[in-house]
Amino acid sequence: MALLEIRNVTRRFGDFVAVDDVSLGVEAGEFFTLLGPSGCGKTTLLRMIAGFDQPDGGSIVLDGNDLADDPPERRPVRTVFQSYALFPHMTVAGNVAFPLRMAKVDAADVRRQVAAALEGVQLGAKADRYPHELSGGQKQRVAIARALVTKPRVLLLDEPLAALDAKLREQLQIELINLQKDVGITFVYVTHDQTEALALSHRIAVMNHGRVEQLDEPSRIYGFPRTRFVADFIGHCNLFDGTVAAVTPAGQGALVDLDVAGLGRIRAATREAVAPGSRGSVALRPEKVRISGTLTQGEGENHCAGHVREFLYMGDVTMYVVEANGGQRVEALLANSESGRTKFFEAGDAVEAAWRFDAGHFIPA
Ligand SMILES: Nc1ncnc2c1ncn2[C@@H]1O[C@H](COP(=O)(O)OP(=O)(O)O)[C@@H](O)[C@H]1O
Ligand SMILES: [Mg+2]
Repeated sequence: MALLEIRNVTRRFGDFVAVDDVSLGVEAGEFFTLLGPSGCGKTTLLRMIAGFDQPDGGSIVLDGNDLADDPPERRPVRTVFQSYALFPHMTVAGNVAFPLRMAKVDAADVRRQVAAALEGVQLGAKADRYPHELSGGQKQRVAIARALVTKPRVLLLDEPLAALDAKLREQLQIELINLQKDVGITFVYVTHDQTEALALSHRIAVMNHGRVEQLDEPSRIYGFPRTRFVADFIGHCNLFDGTVAAVTPAGQGALVDLDVAGLGRIRAATREAVAPGSRGSVALRPEKVRISGTLTQGEGENHCAGHVREFLYMGDVTMYVVEANGGQRVEALLANSESGRTKFFEAGDAVEAAWRFDAGHFIPA
């Protein structure tokens, strides 16, 4: 059994279903992320785990114990919020000591545990500072130290880095990964930022309208999205809708032929059994698409002729939008790794786009 089990949990606000029959298990020691757009129910689910809110249906089980009757302070769970929620009139050490003092830990132990917790977040030197003297990143580290000092079984983090700028966020992401590894405490992390989720997590539950659309490891969420929503929400993705014309019998990975309006017949991998005549989409990441100025049809590849509609230079990479001769748009992402290179093609250039059959994968409608 998983350390934390969410079983058929539902939460309604009037007629609105904020969390809709969610079931999932979080393993001990795992960095588990709830990822989804604003309003999909992430915070509501987290609040029910913490005990700040109650489910209308289902149960939350930690270490085999149903938490239904436990108030927040009795749950071995702590929460870190985006807003830090530090006590402004207390020093850094005072903030971290607070939960220990509430638990009547004796003074010598408080000092020792506070020092260790501050070392853990590299703030040993700031023990006597006040929150207003700290940067946003430092404040968040204090909040994390305060949450960890009582050694909860599970740490809940609700968009803890959302208020920080990009550079600092990246630095704290690396610190969080290391901290979680060091302390070994199970993290349930909430974010709407897909890059952050991919970088931090052992597993990700992608949520949409209160439901979990896919629960998988980051590489599978990115490489094998199961639904159109997941494909579209996680990074850039071409989605070609069409009708299945043929299925190459399963063996070492089945392939489907799909007739796509404006593009023609393309071939893609499928994980699930599909019948000819059914509808669906092929999800294809732009970085899997090559474009070239000459026709070079390789073995085992889809190809289409068209022209460059527009492109977006992003420094390390350039995103090209190719309009196939049939009218379908195909996005291709090319690395500008050659020094000084800013673009390969101009808008209007005739090009060919090509990608391997198994670069795209089929999502049933
Ligand atoms: N106390 C509440 N009363 C009414 N609606 C709420 C309440 N809390 C959350 N909601 C609604 O539930 C949905 C999910 O909210 P939330 O869990 O905060 O989403 P997220 O954290 O994913 O952005 C939103 O549409 C929100 O407006
Ligand atoms: Mg939220």
